[in-house]
Amino acid sequence: MKLYIRTYGCQMNERDSENIAVDFLERGWTLTENPQEADVAIVNTCSVREQAERKASGLIGRILYDRVERKATLPVVGVTGCMAQNKGGELVKEFPELDFVAGPRKTHLVPQFALSILEKRKRGELLPELPEGMRRRTFKYSDALVDVSDDTEGHLHINRHMGAPVCAFVSIMQGCQMNCSYCIVPKVRGIQRSRPIEDVVKEVKYLAERGTKEVMLLGQVANAYGRDFASSGGVSNFVRLLQEINDISGIERIRYTSPHPAYFNDDLINAYGSLEKLCEYVHLPLQSGSDEILKKMNRPYRVKKFLEIVERLRSRAKGMSISTDIIVGYPSETDSDFQQTRDAFAAAAFDMAFIFKYSPREGTKSALLPDDISEEVKDTRNKILLDDLAKTSLDFNNAMVGSVEQVLVESHARRGDGLLMGRTRNHRKAIFAGEDSLIGRLVDVEIKSATTTALDSVLV
Ligand code: 5AD
Ligand code: SF4
Repeated sequence: MKLYIRTYGCQMNERDSENIAVDFLERGWTLTENPQEADVAIVNTCSVREQAERKASGLIGRILYDRVERKATLPVVGVTGCMAQNKGGELVKEFPELDFVAGPRKTHLVPQFALSILEKRKRGELLPELPEGMRRRTFKYSDALVDVSDDTEGHLHINRHMGAPVCAFVSIMQGCQMNCSYCIVPKVRGIQRSRPIEDVVKEVKYLAERGTKEVMLLGQVANAYGRDFASSGGVSNFVRLLQEINDISGIERIRYTSPHPAYFNDDLINAYGSLEKLCEYVHLPLQSGSDEILKKMNRPYRVKKFLEIVERLRSRAKGMSISTDIIVGYPSETDSDFQQTRDAFAAAAFDMAFIFKYSPREGTKSALLPDDISEEVKDTRNKILLDDLAKTSLDFNNAMVGSVEQVLVESHARRGDGLLMGRTRNHRKAIFAGEDSLIGRLVDVEIKSATTTALDSVLV
């Protein structure tokens, strides 16, 4: 039996997909890249921008269309993730042949949904009518067809892995308690709930014992971890978690994503340089370099405070690399607001950035505002920032040429030719020649030359 699962969006979604897949693999299923040969096909979706929803809808349509075309019953097709939550019943109206829709707080129940539908179909309880038209509803049942109700508790406690990769994702919380005006996440993923520290530590120990060297802790606002339970000793629960993970033998590196500038307090800044496994790379979303726009976005910090954090991080740890998220074309963003974003961008000298064109999401506060910045202006602003970024990231990489860096070898390089790919502590991609047996190990390389995206290196 075969499972097809396609993931859109963030690392939490990847983590959720893995959780779903494990249940199938344990039953002896295998994974396939081809939905046409799958017994169950799942599209795990993202709603953060319209484009992500459009792509997922296209794929769902193709899977269902092919199924109808072939007049076959396979596969059982389900939609999970944020768009499932956001669109729920609408999705079933749009795609009447869908077998189930389950929101992101229900992913732990997805294997049950899918397998029970498959069973019923095998028993003939859900025999498809012969499809006469694309939009024909072929299956009529079931309580589980659309289930997007909240079961965060269940979801919080199920965190399973397919083996132990060199670098593993570990979810530390669900949901988000912030209220950024443009963002759909709190609506679809619910309020913040943190996993108990002991659970996270146990999971990381489990991974370490099986060979994982690096953990990436995942949360929508990772540094607000544990604010939903009491902290002690003047140290936030997030930093306490970092300390506990730092003590786990076998783990060599700790990363997390994404922190929020509003919770970037002294204890976290001081953790750099004192927790030896905490890597010198921080993805810190700025969103806009204009205080006016930040206020309108309901982001509770100002540019000055953001730049102070950047400055302190860079002076605290050598080689610190900082990346960010920016939204261009938020309603009413003027040329002067945008110029301020460019200025902040230059001042922070981001080494990497994800630049998004504003996309109104129904159900968010900003969707009520006119989307008054034209696509053309959004495009131009996007390109300008990408050009700025190309320069800063090349400068950053060039500055590393000649240095010797510790690299965790992750995989073969996409370029092939017996080359390997590893990450420096500050998350730069190093490419170098080496034996396959180095994958999963820490090695030292010397950086010989740099491009905007990679460091050509040799083993030392
Ligand atoms: N439009 C454009 N970008 C968005 N993001 C979140 N919501 C929107 C939206 N409506 C971006 C933010 C966030 C990243 C994950 O996606 O920059 O940090
Ligand atoms: Fe969305 Fe803001 Fe929460 Fe990030 S902090 S997930 S941008 S609401």
